Amino acid sequence: MRGAKQTGMPRRALAEGHARPPMLEKRMGKMRLDMNENLPGCSSKVRAALRRLSAEGLSMYPEKERAVARMAPGFGVHADEMLVVSGIDDALRLIADVYIERGRSVLLVEPTFPMYRFYAEQRDAKIRSLRYDREMRFPMREVLRVLRTEPAVFFLANPNNPTGNLLDARTLGTILNAAARTLVVVDEAYFEFSGVTVLPQVRQRRNLAVTRTFSKAAGLAGLRVGCVFAHRDVTTILKRAQAPFPVGTAALAAAEAALKDRAFVRRAVREIRQGRAILERGLSRLGVRVFPSGANFLLVDFGARGPAVVAALKRRDILVRDQAGSFERRGFVRITIGTPKQMRKFLGVLETLL
Ligand SMILES: Cc1ncc(COP(=O)(O)O)c(C=O)c1O
Repeated sequence: MRGAKQTGMPRRALAEGHARPPMLEKRMGKMRLDMNENLPGCSSKVRAALRRLSAEGLSMYPEKERAVARMAPGFGVHADEMLVVSGIDDALRLIADVYIERGRSVLLVEPTFPMYRFYAEQRDAKIRSLRYDREMRFPMREVLRVLRTEPAVFFLANPNNPTGNLLDARTLGTILNAAARTLVVVDEAYFEFSGVTVLPQVRQRRNLAVTRTFSKAAGLAGLRVGCVFAHRDVTTILKRAQAPFPVGTAALAAAEAALKDRAFVRRAVREIRQGRAILERGLSRLGVRVFPSGANFLLVDFGARGPAVVAALKRRDILVRDQAGSFERRGFVRITIGTPKQMRKFLGVLETLL
């Protein structure tokens, strides 16, 4: 023993790197407009499926292949075009394990979901970072230029978090056609709210992986379950690097039940769209700049008063996400959309603060 400082030999990028900022806890019971969860909750059919789990079922290791075979038709894919994962976070780590190593480059259009950069940096990748402009426009020409340099992976959230941008299927097709030797990961975490998808293209393209999650519209963030879809040549390689039991029995049962209860998701999406319209109108009335969003959140610009507004809301148990760090300018805040009732309450409080 060489004393308390002994840590073995972690990879250099981790030993020298920065920790991911800790997620806020003690959020239960507050108005949670900070993590893009599903504020209408989850399906009662999912909770019933969880109650039906038997002692034998829980004492066994999970059987994910059977669950995948049952779920694949619900997504319109074959079972060998799909993997289940412990949320998209887990999918991103798996993709990074398989496609990223020192000396390879990774394309990002930032600000975007921070886990892309986090996993790429851990593997010593060279980050090619492009940025949304001040109007939150996607830098298409630069993306096509960087794709000519053949980065190993392009992580692209569609809709993007935190900007809310949504690229249409035609633009995505142009990107995929230009990605000669790049795996394009189209992260469709918010697909249910946007309706835009490239999922049917995984059968034709070997340079595409699509990620989906049960954390957002299905309201199961606490269970950690999601999917990766890709051509079977890609899933074969991803499976080689996957842990044998990445998703627990309860999460698998919940995902299956959620997939069957499409009516719940439809209702939740309708409610969130109504909430979005109320919030957009209310914020515009208060003179706050709102960016268009294809997802269950809005990016807004409060200007110089941004940090004070975030802090004042927090004192009233209303949590929103300050995005000053992502944009290197104070004022940007991301607000998760809740039910119409929650949005009216939120706007009422905001009005007293502005
Ligand atoms: C674009 C994007 N991808 C993935 C995730 C995480 O999804 P999961 O809960 O499935 O890990 C988020 C969560 O905020 C997200 O915004």
